[in-house]
Amino acid sequence: MPHLLVTKHNNITTPSTCDDVVFSFLASSQKENKILVKCDNQQFFLTTKEKDGNILVKVDNSTRVSPVSIVKKAINAYGKLSKADILFSNTDNISRKVEPKKEFLKDISYFINDFKTTKEIFIEVGFGSGRHLIHQALQNPDKIIIGLEIHTPSIEQMLKQVNIQGVINILAVNYDARLFLEFMKSNSISRVFVHFPVPWDKKPHRRVMSPEFIKESLRALKPNGTLELRTDSPNYFEYAKELLENFKEFPSQIIKNQDLEVTSKYETRWKKQGKDIWDVTITSTINDDELVIEDDFTFDKKVDTLALNLDKKPIVKDDFLVHFENILTINECDILIQLTMGSFNKPVSKFIIVENGKASYFQGNPIPTSANLKAHSLIKNLIGEK
Ligand SMILES: C[S@@+](CC[C@H](N)C(=O)[O-])C[C@H]1O[C@@H](n2cnc3c(N)ncnc32)[C@H](O)[C@@H]1O
Repeated sequence: MPHLLVTKHNNITTPSTCDDVVFSFLASSQKENKILVKCDNQQFFLTTKEKDGNILVKVDNSTRVSPVSIVKKAINAYGKLSKADILFSNTDNISRKVEPKKEFLKDISYFINDFKTTKEIFIEVGFGSGRHLIHQALQNPDKIIIGLEIHTPSIEQMLKQVNIQGVINILAVNYDARLFLEFMKSNSISRVFVHFPVPWDKKPHRRVMSPEFIKESLRALKPNGTLELRTDSPNYFEYAKELLENFKEFPSQIIKNQDLEVTSKYETRWKKQGKDIWDVTITSTINDDELVIEDDFTFDKKVDTLALNLDKKPIVKDDFLVHFENILTINECDILIQLTMGSFNKPVSKFIIVENGKASYFQGNPIPTSANLKAHSLIKNLIGEK
């Protein structure tokens, strides 16, 4: 992580410019300062905070931009502007190294705003080593295979194989599968594979399969499209059977110890141990209504920053949380609110800027998951004028 350690100095004057880097405003709190930086058409915050009597300068992690050379350029410009003595720096090398091409790795926002295809779509949840995902891609070159995974090393390993094997029809996304389907168009998917999901025997609420997941899958699946669970866990199998009780109107099928064309790493291990494997398939039969993604993240009430008194304890509701982490002062009436919001498993770190009583999310609105929308609704009420 690029950073700079400099001697103590007065706050830089804002707005000011140095080496084409614009320092727009400085928001301060007891803990640290955040400085809004505009550099090479990107905006982010630099954090400055005291460390052992000196000042540490680094990028605010949740607003980090790429390539990293932009961040290094801004940190170096800060060092120059502060006129402080530089005690340590790892920001010298600002060569514009081309970041490894990750054309098959997409951000969740791509699926919300840009993803369009006339091709058939398969989705694999938790693809792990990617053996089955790549097999599906190679067997179905005319289809798009979307792979969901939350374990970054597995994604990197799978993408290496994509390069080696010359696969061109995979889109991987580092995102919780339980939330992803909320953004898929109705009646657009042919198959959803959930192969060997983590059993979570002690925390069943963390399982991928749930009534909501099955409901969203059936909505996103075309008529005759299938949700296919493959598991070696007797508990998961029993749990899946119970879940199916709520979806009796949809045809389902259970097959024991079926061989597939490709075996995953896990499967090979279980088979050696003589374990049973169950395939549970549920089929969509109906055309569902079009998906309407609500994305109203506006703040309709004015914020009275002078009267605002936000509790910094996390607010935990049934299916979302809001945690106001820090309130920083920009000037007499403008503030910056640093917070975490959304679902427990994938909370998002955001900043809200309040200028002249008007609030807005820095670097754009959160992703419109149901948890983020619920969290926003609470935030709006808590900071809006009473
Ligand atoms: C037991 S491994 C199975 C991997 C692969 N399907 C196979 O058969 O070898 C489960 C995988 O699911 C991933 N995973 C767990 N929860 C997930 C979630 N909510 N969304 C996406 N992936 C998830 C894990 O990171 C892990 O790689």
